[in-house]
This record gives sequence, C-alpha cells and structure tokens, in this order.
Amino acid sequence: MTTQVYAYPGYDYIADAICGSQGFTKVTAEWSRFPDGESKFRLTDLPVSKTVVLVCSLNQPDQKLSGLYLFSKLLRSYGVEKIILLAPYLCYMRQDKIFNPGEGITAKFCAEFIESFADAIITVDPHLHRIASLDQLYTIPNQTLQAAKAIANHIKHHIEQPVLIGPDSESEQWVREVADGIGCDYTVLEKIRSGDREVKIQMKNASLLDNKNIVLVDDIISTGRTMLETLKLLRPLGFNGAHCVAVHGLFADDSYRQLQAEGALSIVSCDTIPHPSNNINLTALYQDAITQLLQHL
Ligand code: R5P
Repeated sequence: MTTQVYAYPGYDYIADAICGSQGFTKVTAEWSRFPDGESKFRLTDLPVSKTVVLVCSLNQPDQKLSGLYLFSKLLRSYGVEKIILLAPYLCYMRQDKIFNPGEGITAKFCAEFIESFADAIITVDPHLHRIASLDQLYTIPNQTLQAAKAIANHIKHHIEQPVLIGPDSESEQWVREVADGIGCDYTVLEKIRSGDREVKIQMKNASLLDNKNIVLVDDIISTGRTMLETLKLLRPLGFNGAHCVAVHGLFADDSYRQLQAEGALSIVSCDTIPHPSNNINLTALYQDAITQLLQHL
C-alpha cells in the first residue's frame, strides 16, 4: 500500500514532489473558511491507510497550528491512527530560553502543542542552539534532516572558488558541514544582536577571502539584518558583494529586496518555505525520512 500525503494549502509543491516517486500518493482536501473566519475542511480523498503524512512548513505558524490540529482531528475521525507531520521549517526554535522576565520557552510550548495532534515529526535543520536536539523537546519520534549536502552540491555547481562565511557562532554548525561537503575554507564572524532588527557583525581573518567568491551561509534569513550587516562589513574591506545561501528563507518585510540592493550577487534558499529564491530541492531527504519513520510507527 502506498503512503497517502495531504498538504496544507501552499505546500502542494512539496507533496507533489514527494509523490512523484512510487510508494507515495497525493490525496486532497478542501481547506476554506466560513465568512466569520472559522476553518472549513473537507476530505475530497478519504484516507485508506492508518498512517498518513501531512505537509506544512511552520513559518507564520499560529494560524497554521490551529488548522493542523483541527485537520488532524478530522483525519482521525475517518480512521487515521498515525499522522506524520512533515514541517520542513519548524517554528519558535529561536525562543529557546527566557530572555526577559515574564517570557517563556515557546519552543517547548509549541512542541507540546504539536504533540497533541501529530504522532511523528520531520523537519529540516531546526534552529538548535541552546537546545541540543529535538529529543529534548519532543517525546514523539522525530527526524532532523540536514540540508548541508544539498547546499554544498548547489554551491559546487554554481560558484567557482567559493569561501564560506557564517555570520555568527551559531551558524558554524551549518557552515562547517557545507564547507566540508565542498572542500573549501570557511570563517565564522562575531555577531552582537541588540534587538529584533539591530545587529552588529565583526570579522577577524579577512585575508582568507582574497581572490575567492564569498558565500554567506546561514540557517535562516528572517529580517535579513544578519546578512545585510555582513554585506555592509565586507564592502570597506574591498569585497563588493557576496552570494547569500540559507536553509530557510523567511524574508520578513522587504528583506529580499534589501539584500539585492545591498550587493547580494545571488540569494538562494532550500525549498522548505515557498519563495522565488528556492533553488535547492530536498525531496529525496523528505522521502527517505518518511520511509524510515513508517518503520517505527
Ligand atoms: C540566528 O541565530 C540565526 O542563525 C540567524 O542568523 C538569524 O535567525 C537570522 O535572522 P535575521 O535575518 O533576522 O538577521
């Protein structure tokens, strides 16, 4: 029997890609709203298996999470016993500590909510910083996929003589993996963030960049400040422009345009969140992870 895959609106492109191979079947549902804003769902294809996959990246997550909860209830009312949530981008992972009195560890609260409707979760490079692994947040089976090989492959084929820059110490885990995959040098900068949109970057060993094509690599581009400040730092050092690559392109506000205006030679993201910058396809990773999880459910 093939595995049935439902997609939250906007994520058909991932479900279609997964179901381009044998073993997976795309199934459809109608997701709409009543005039008062409440969700209205209908399964146009009924589930035939006990386990199904539900695809939804969790950028802009709050409305999606309530929809996923209700949709999962609907699936279970038609006999589904296990739901694998494929959330290529996992939300709230940067809220992994109490930064100010009165705040909470939203990463944990969110995990608890996801566990209320999903039986397993697959995600790509979640922002693991103070939390070492998803097992610290989730008790359900989980798979953390790494985009490093796919990113390395992309850079190898599109950028000659690259040298990678990670904009802060947190990015080292991704940049090192990508550099290893390419066989090139990398350096990691020092970042001081004083607010959501205020970031200062410092660099030590600029000589590493001479005669190379600079590629900024990070897990997330959100407001774009981190990459923008890095591009600004490079200019007085004589480096005009750099390529920008991220696993997840959230591109808040008009950060994509700002990066282009500030000298980004190209801006590329993985297909985890739909955006014109998507140029790195992770379908094979998704398929393998689903296949592996199916054996453990
Ligand atoms: C933070 O630690 C992450 O690794 C990214 O550097 C950060 O989320 C990027 O955010 P922004 O684009 O808002 O600077």
